Amino acid sequence: MKTTLSGLTSLALAAAAALFAYPALSADKAPAKADPNASPIYGVTIPKGYRQWEFVAPALEKEPLNELRTVVGNKIAMDAYKKGKLPFPDGSILVKLAYKYTQSPDFESALVPDHATTVQVMVKDSRKYAASGGWGYGRFIDGKPVDAAQHQTCFACHAARVKDRDYVFTKLVP
Ligand code: HEC
Repeated sequence: MKTTLSGLTSLALAAAAALFAYPALSADKAPAKADPNASPIYGVTIPKGYRQWEFVAPALEKEPLNELRTVVGNKIAMDAYKKGKLPFPDGSILVKLAYKYTQSPDFESALVPDHATTVQVMVKDSRKYAASGGWGYGRFIDGKPVDAAQHQTCFACHAARVKDRDYVFTKLVP
């Protein structure tokens, strides 16, 4: 009788241990899901302080998007740009801010920013993101990441066009 009881107790203990261990294990496996502000697939978030980062270049996107864009980079990315160093080292982050453009009410030939559309982020981590050329991608609208389907398009387009520049379109303008 005594043996059966202790057998049952250890069974119960093992079951309880399994119950406690399981959530820890699944959290380890899917850290991206834990943060609602992180992009699907890559787990990229909007980096703190990016509004203070250095300017890389602007871009004008014609029909159908009609957007003005500005790309900025953190110090690691800017140092690489200035030295013409490719590939970008781990820790490089590039952020693109996009706005619809609108006719300036003050000057005929000027197009000026209207409302913000997306903030897009590329983070270099050659090991973590080995499957996507070393870059993790994030697209955000009003601070929230867009769906997985949109994130599936990022690497394909960057890889098809600018693989030889480490998947980065924007060139530094002096
Ligand atoms: C159909 C092509 C295409 C797709 C898809 C695409 N991009 Fe880009 N991306 C561009 C182009 C072109 C630029 C250059 C700047 C511009 O014209 O806006 C760019 C620039 C960027 C930049 C600035 C660094 C650089 O490469 O110049 C970031 C960051 C970025 N994209 C993130 C993303 C993210 C995140 C996604 C997916 C959610 C994505 N991109 C999907 C074409 C694409």
